[in-house]
Amino acid sequence: MQARNSMAPASRTTIDQNRAVLHVRPREDFVETEITRDIAQRALAYLQAGFPVHFRGPAGTGKTTLAMHVAAQLGRPVILLVGDEEFTTSDLIGEQSGYRYRKVVDRFIHSVLKYEEDAEQRWVDNRLTTACREGFTLVYDEFTRSRPEANNVLLTVLEERLLVLPDLRRENAYLKVHPEFRAIFTSNPQEYVGVHETQDALSDRLVTLDLDYYDRDTEVSVVASRSGLSLEAAARVVDIVRDFRASGEYDQAPTMRSGIMIAKVTAQQGLTPSVDDARFVRVCLDILESKKVFNSRAREQHTHQRKMLLSLLEHHAPSQQPARSRARKESQHEAHTKYNSDSE
Ligand SMILES: Nc1ncnc2c1ncn2[C@@H]1O[C@H](COP(=O)(O)OP(=O)(O)OP(=O)(O)O)[C@@H](O)[C@H]1O
Ligand SMILES: [Mg+2]
Repeated sequence: MQARNSMAPASRTTIDQNRAVLHVRPREDFVETEITRDIAQRALAYLQAGFPVHFRGPAGTGKTTLAMHVAAQLGRPVILLVGDEEFTTSDLIGEQSGYRYRKVVDRFIHSVLKYEEDAEQRWVDNRLTTACREGFTLVYDEFTRSRPEANNVLLTVLEERLLVLPDLRRENAYLKVHPEFRAIFTSNPQEYVGVHETQDALSDRLVTLDLDYYDRDTEVSVVASRSGLSLEAAARVVDIVRDFRASGEYDQAPTMRSGIMIAKVTAQQGLTPSVDDARFVRVCLDILESKKVFNSRAREQHTHQRKMLLSLLEHHAPSQQPARSRARKESQHEAHTKYNSDSE
């Protein structure tokens, strides 16, 4: 499969601090392969038809990156929200914010300044209201982390295209959603357990596209693009991470992010991605071993996991000195002994 970087113009996200608005242009280092192109095109088609899209998938499968990439294609300013247990509806739509005071100068006694209370309370828009009013693109990352009650306000926004504001604000209790308003959601289904189930009514309004770990070629392209390593070097790192993922011997799945971390340090520190370089081996162990929690009683398991990781390294990042294979074997043996004895 041919991987290429998006031909989009230079990546730049500018932030309008006053309105918490992002002006997003496609990232230069966004990797387009068959799979990312396909899913982005499907998402765009649904969005253009007016439907909200939901990228659902495990950690590190590229949901947020894809959401921002698709939002950039829509070409409208972006409002980014990240789901939060503490969110209330007013965090989404805004709230009454104290009273507005009017200064009145008494014309007869000039030294007297009077303050009269304005009859109206001041209303401060929050991000969802701004997006609905202005026709921006809402990216609501990890929306299932917010409590369902806080997200309820989205139901009429997505279906009737009406934002219902609290009736305190009697004059404008409804805001008609701007025709260009679009919404992109992301969530991790593994997080629903013990947090909040996706509200059925809300998810029924979303076109859900499931993401899984990308194919090997896409992961290699992403890791190379994000680290600056060559495709060949990135492939070694990706193969180690993917085989570790396939082993199932962890508490937290090693994602593309682990591959990017290893590859970035390797590139920045000028390490050789092979078992010849003890520092490279150490970086791989540091990043991958933490995917399983060990306590002092689980020494044997720890040693077993280290052996497995070292053999993955030997397999995918073999010594680059084939002419001196005997020396290599010796150094591999030493590495084994060294790292194994570390954990004992
Ligand atoms: N198409 C892509 N092009 C370039 N980099 C990518 C691409 N997809 C993902 N990445 C990179 O992979 C890493 C993980 O992606 P991302 O943060 O989007 O995943 P996620 O599914 O949102 O993860 P989480 O659930 O942990 O939030 C990031 O460093 C991101 O920059
Ligand atoms: Mg994310």
